[in-house]
Amino acid sequence: MEQLKFYRVNDAYGCFSNFYSHPIEIDGIKWRTSEHYFQAMKFLDVKLQRKANEIVSPMEVAKFGRDRSLPLRPDWEEVKDDIMRKAVLQKVFQNQFVFDTLISTRDLFIIEHTKNDSYWADGGDGTGNNMLGKILMEVRVLMKKALMNVEIVQGDIATTYTDVIVNAANKSLTGGGGVDGAIHRAAGPEMKDYCAKYRGCKTGEARLSSGFELKAKYVIHAVGPVWYEGEKNEDEKLYQAYNNSMLLCKEIKAKSIAFPNISTGAFRFPFERATLIQRHAIVTGLMRNDLLRKVEIVCFSEKDEVRVAKLYN
Ligand code: APR
Repeated sequence: MEQLKFYRVNDAYGCFSNFYSHPIEIDGIKWRTSEHYFQAMKFLDVKLQRKANEIVSPMEVAKFGRDRSLPLRPDWEEVKDDIMRKAVLQKVFQNQFVFDTLISTRDLFIIEHTKNDSYWADGGDGTGNNMLGKILMEVRVLMKKALMNVEIVQGDIATTYTDVIVNAANKSLTGGGGVDGAIHRAAGPEMKDYCAKYRGCKTGEARLSSGFELKAKYVIHAVGPVWYEGEKNEDEKLYQAYNNSMLLCKEIKAKSIAFPNISTGAFRFPFERATLIQRHAIVTGLMRNDLLRKVEIVCFSEKDEVRVAKLYN
C-alpha cells in the first residue's frame, strides 16, 4: 500500500500533526491545539489541565505533559489511545481543511514519520507503533462509511420522498422562488401560516415544520447566507445552516433527509465552495447520528448533479 508520511506542521499533511495550530473545542473547553488537549488529559487535576492550556507553544505543552514530577493520572496507559481518538475526531468535525485533507488521502497508508516517537509515530525507521497514523486511518474509515449513505440525485426536491426535506429559505420564512417556491407551492398555504409563528429565522439557523401536503413528513427551513465575496463569514454561516439542519434531523429521529444546494441559486454562493462546506457538514453529521440512514443531495440540473457527485466521490 502506498505510504503518506507526515510530521512537521509546515510540511505536506502537517494538519494531521497535533501541533497544527488550530483550536478545538472539547467538553466545553477551547484548547489551543489538539496537543494541548492531549497533554492536559494526562492530569486529573483541573488546575494542571488549565495550566497546560495557558502554555502557548505546543512544544512547551508537550514538555509540560512529560514532566514526571507532575501527578500523571494512574490509568493513563489504558485511556491514552481513546483520548487521542477523541482529539482527532474533533479536529475532523470542527476543521474542514483537516476533513478535506484526510478524505483526499483515499487509501494511502498514513504514517507519522519521526525518530522522536516510537509509539504515536514510526520511530523514524518504521519499527514504531505509528498509533497516530492508525487513528487517522480509523477516522478515515468512519468518514467513508458515512459517505456511503449520501446519494446525489437530479430532480425537484419538492417531490422527494424522504422523512425530511430541507428548504433553502430566507429569513422571513414566508416563501420565495427556487426551492422555497417549489416547496411552499407543493406544501400548500398552511405551511406559510405555520412558519409565521417563528417570526423569522436568522441566517445559519433552521426551523422545523410538518410537510403538510408534501410527500415528506417534515420540512426543515434552513436559511443560508447571501454571498458577499466571502467578506461576511459566509462559509461559517453556510456550514451552520447545514449543521443545524442535521442536528434538527437527529432531534426528530428521522431516518432520511434530502438537501438542496443551499445558497447556490439566488444567494449566489460559489457552487464548488458551497458543496465542500455541505460535504463536511453532512458527512460529519452522519458520523454523529447512527439513526440517519440516507442523505439525498437533490440537484436541479444534470450539470449540478455531475459537479456535486465529482466532489463527493
Ligand atoms: N429542487 C431542487 N433544487 C432546486 C430547485 C428544486 N425545485 N429549485 C432550484 N434549485 C436549486 C438551484 O438551482 C440552486 O442550485 O437549488 C439551489 C438553491 O437555489 P435557490 O432556491 O435560489 O436558493 P438560495 O440560493 O439558497 O436562495 C434562497 O431564494 O427562493 C428564494 O426565498 C428564497 O430568498 C430565498 C433565496
